[in-house]
Amino acid sequence: MAQGLDVGTMNILSARQDGDETVFVQQRNSFVEIDHSDMAEQMLSRSEVLHIRKDDLVYIVGDDALNFANIFNEETRRPMQAGILSSDEKSAIPMIKLITEQVVGEPAQPGELLFFSVPADPIDSEMSTLYHQKTVESLLGDMGYSPEPINEGMAVIYSELADREFTGLGVSFGAGMTNVCLSYYAVPVMKFSIARGGDYIDKQTAQATGTPVDKVTSTKEDDFELDFETDVGGIEGALSIYYDNLLDYVIENIIQEVDEEDVEEDLDIPVVVTGGTSSPDGFEALFAERLNEADLPFSISGVRRAENPMYSVAQGALVAARSEEERTETRTATGEESTRAEADQ
Ligand SMILES: Nc1ncnc2c1ncn2[C@@H]1O[C@H](COP(=O)(O)OP(=O)(O)OP(=O)(O)O)[C@@H](O)[C@H]1O
Ligand SMILES: [Mg+2]
Repeated sequence: MAQGLDVGTMNILSARQDGDETVFVQQRNSFVEIDHSDMAEQMLSRSEVLHIRKDDLVYIVGDDALNFANIFNEETRRPMQAGILSSDEKSAIPMIKLITEQVVGEPAQPGELLFFSVPADPIDSEMSTLYHQKTVESLLGDMGYSPEPINEGMAVIYSELADREFTGLGVSFGAGMTNVCLSYYAVPVMKFSIARGGDYIDKQTAQATGTPVDKVTSTKEDDFELDFETDVGGIEGALSIYYDNLLDYVIENIIQEVDEEDVEEDLDIPVVVTGGTSSPDGFEALFAERLNEADLPFSISGVRRAENPMYSVAQGALVAARSEEERTETRTATGEESTRAEADQ
């Protein structure tokens, strides 16, 4: 058995194969801190809410954090920011550990292989992903797994471009980041991230319209469409403007990186978009339009959205983990055979 894990700024998801089916487990990467009280104790003991008590405080973790935040009039907090562990959040590591433990469960066997997603280093910020990667790796190792990092953009190529010989441009539009990977026959020729995603759209829209960020996020996630026809001056109008702005920024950076990386020219490249931020209707059409206007050294054969944008990174990490597991098994089997052959001589 092997497992895939998507460690995202907003969502943590695991993927495991069960017969013909892939089983996903998901939790929101957030928590809320409330004072310990008899009422809180009573509510929690009667529920399956993921929580941990520390002295006079109780931390409610994952999907339930938002409900409790509303009941207790507290703000939710996030262990990660812009794709990596947050340096502003002192409880980041214990909280992400708790969420990850719940999502991955016990290893199926000691040292079960687990591929976990890490973003590429961002090209528009000083942040490095190394500390984040090493910390997550060590947490997973402590849980009994053999963890291996996989680039988030490459995971998209594994899950969405198997039918195109793992050749194309994969873009994961997440909460804290946008991850881009161009691959030829499963070899990444360009990969980078941008420290902007859904959180950026929400924050800018909130500022422009004077609306609380949580309200903007729920408006966006609830049936918002990128049709540019409605709501000038309202939240949806502002969301469209910042969506457009994010896409322009991503394409600007793709052009610049393609230029620097000396990418092979005159190819016809399929493009796949995924991640929660790619969900609104009209997203891939808008991205296709912008890409076609852009001055790129290759042509785009089409832009497609992943069937399930929230699952593709975990799915791709699972594909990579399973093929690595198969390779190891084959190596072990052939290794044994040659030992036997030697013994026979
Ligand atoms: N239906 C929807 N419409 C628009 N945006 C959505 C929708 N559903 C989720 N989102 C947004 O998608 C983002 C979360 O996506 P995703 O889970 O892919 O990110 P992540 O992997 O946690 O973050 P990152 O990859 O940046 O670390 C959030 O900004 C969320 O508001
Ligand atoms: Mg992501």
